Amino acid sequence: MAVLIDGKKISQEIKDEVKAEIERDNIKAALAVIIVGDDPASKVYVKNKKNACEYCGIESLSFELPEKTTEEELLELIDRLNRDTLVDGILVQLPLPPHIDEDKVIEAIDPKKDVDGFSTRSVGALSIGSDGFVSCTPAGIIELIKRSGVEIAGKECVVMGRSNIVGKPMAMLMLRENATVTVVHSKTKHIEDICRRADILIVAIGKKMMITQDYVKDGACVIDVGIHRLDPDENRGKKLCGDVDFDDVEPLASYITPVPGGVGPMTIAMLMKNVLKAARMR
Ligand code: GUN
Repeated sequence: MAVLIDGKKISQEIKDEVKAEIERDNIKAALAVIIVGDDPASKVYVKNKKNACEYCGIESLSFELPEKTTEEELLELIDRLNRDTLVDGILVQLPLPPHIDEDKVIEAIDPKKDVDGFSTRSVGALSIGSDGFVSCTPAGIIELIKRSGVEIAGKECVVMGRSNIVGKPMAMLMLRENATVTVVHSKTKHIEDICRRADILIVAIGKKMMITQDYVKDGACVIDVGIHRLDPDENRGKKLCGDVDFDDVEPLASYITPVPGGVGPMTIAMLMKNVLKAARMR
């Protein structure tokens, strides 16, 4: 029987800490949120981000641009927000429409306002251990592990997946916490054997319920970054699932994150923390 890591509770604690700090020190913080087009999932994420801002006492400025917005127009808006001294953080919701170069847009954000931590400057700062904004999902996972009382230093950590947003910064953060880190991916050989060495297994592969007991060491801490909708014929009374087959793995693990209510809520809580940090730096 594993201890359930309650992301909903821990994310609420973090938002309450941010809210209390903003009230105590009378901080004025503002986040600009830009969304281009009508992707329904992106709209939900953006709405949740705005609600979290309101809860924490952070002003949110919303820019909802039509699908046909040009790259130039978007870059102009970012330039204006970079120069606006009342804006602390700038977030461009991804994905962008195909005619806009995402990398170019991310690089246009002033590193001091890059609260998503996606720019090469932010990623570079993380990799050499200097101060900067850390991508919210991996930063949230560190909080989940630490606040659950799981020791990281000296542990074997396996990160499954090598995306720029989760896998790579995750590996870097675990290294900063003095874990011994291995990253596995779709071309890795003997992947199950490597995963079974992990004291802490972080799964961000985007494959529905792929991770079974075959990948998990007895007593491992298992963190599931995936989120997928279950079809009616495969659901066992649940609508959502992760990359981990929870029912199979849970009896073997010492700690495990559920889906939903594990990693998911942490991303927005860490975004609030990053906006507060940006406001403090200003
Ligand atoms: N799209 C999916 N996740 C994210 C995120 O964390 N930040 C941004 N900007 N876009 C996303």
